[in-house]
Amino acid sequence: MTTTTPKSKREKLLRQNLVNRFVHWTTALAIFLLILTGFGQMPLYNRYNVTKLPGAEWLGDYFITINLHYLAAVLLIFVVFYHIINAFIRKEFDIFPRRGDFKESYLIIKAMITKCKEPPCGKYLAEQRLAYFYIGFNVLLLIITGLIKMYKNLPGVELPYSLLFWTTMLHNIGTVLLILGIIGHLAAFIFKENRALLPGMFTGYIDRNYAEHRHVLWCKKPESKGQVPFFTDEEHHDREQSRNETGHPGC
Ligand code: HEM
Ligand code: HEM
Repeated sequence: MTTTTPKSKREKLLRQNLVNRFVHWTTALAIFLLILTGFGQMPLYNRYNVTKLPGAEWLGDYFITINLHYLAAVLLIFVVFYHIINAFIRKEFDIFPRRGDFKESYLIIKAMITKCKEPPCGKYLAEQRLAYFYIGFNVLLLIITGLIKMYKNLPGVELPYSLLFWTTMLHNIGTVLLILGIIGHLAAFIFKENRALLPGMFTGYIDRNYAEHRHVLWCKKPESKGQVPFFTDEEHHDREQSRNETGHPGC
């Protein structure tokens, strides 16, 4: 008797396991709360009458926003540690930036605009690795400066003025850069080519054809146990040939 994989499973590939999804959405939630409550301490909501909106009064309460800021900070620090330790234990470094990412990123964007063939990519495109580095760098900057600001708030702690000045500056600059990064991250999904990745962050699975077309190097190497089999070298060769044939004539 032969066993066949259900069609729906064969057409999908597991891209984001539960750990990745947990890390992504916990980070997003913590950052959303930190931005919301951080602005409360500036204090923007009273000044611009946001607190007059129904249900938004609490945004003007310094005590509530600072405590929520601390709570979200703990969540963020926890998830960042968890992510780093998990990456090292499982040796999952696909998303870490590599040499040549800027050049590869340029080639991918050029290919998207001119409808030419993209260079073969692994699990993440070069610009995704760069986006990860950019967001990760700002998150670490905000954690370090945030911890110093927190320490300064302890009773009896006196820190030099220049240190406080630069800490506050960097905490604020990091906030602005992070917000721009998040806007850029979400704007990436305006492009149809990137949209097929969205279900991966919700259900874990993405369309198999899309993965084989866009993340061909990742599909060649089996990644996790229980994964639907990836294709062989011969199949890869055939696919590459058909990809070459279907490329835009002007490329
Ligand atoms: C505070 C908010 C968020 C932060 C800091 C954040 C951060 C990140 C980072 C660093 C990555 C990996 C690099 C990349 O693929 O660009 C990523 C991946 C991803 N994010 Fe977000 N994200 C946020 C919100 C969102 C939201 C609201 C969505 C959905 C609408 C989303 C959808 C995705 C998807 C689908 C991926 C995986 C792409 C793939 O499979 O390759 N993110 N996110
Ligand atoms: C995504 C990460 C974060 C964002 C966007 C963010 C944003 C902000 C903003 C806009 C402010 C108000 C301006 C200022 O006082 O400089 C602020 C204040 C502050 N943040 Fe953050 N923050 C983040 C992470 C953290 C973390 C991780 C910590 C602690 C470990 C922290 C601790 C503080 C403290 C202590 C203050 C000053 C409160 C006061 O004394 O009034 N922040 N943050």
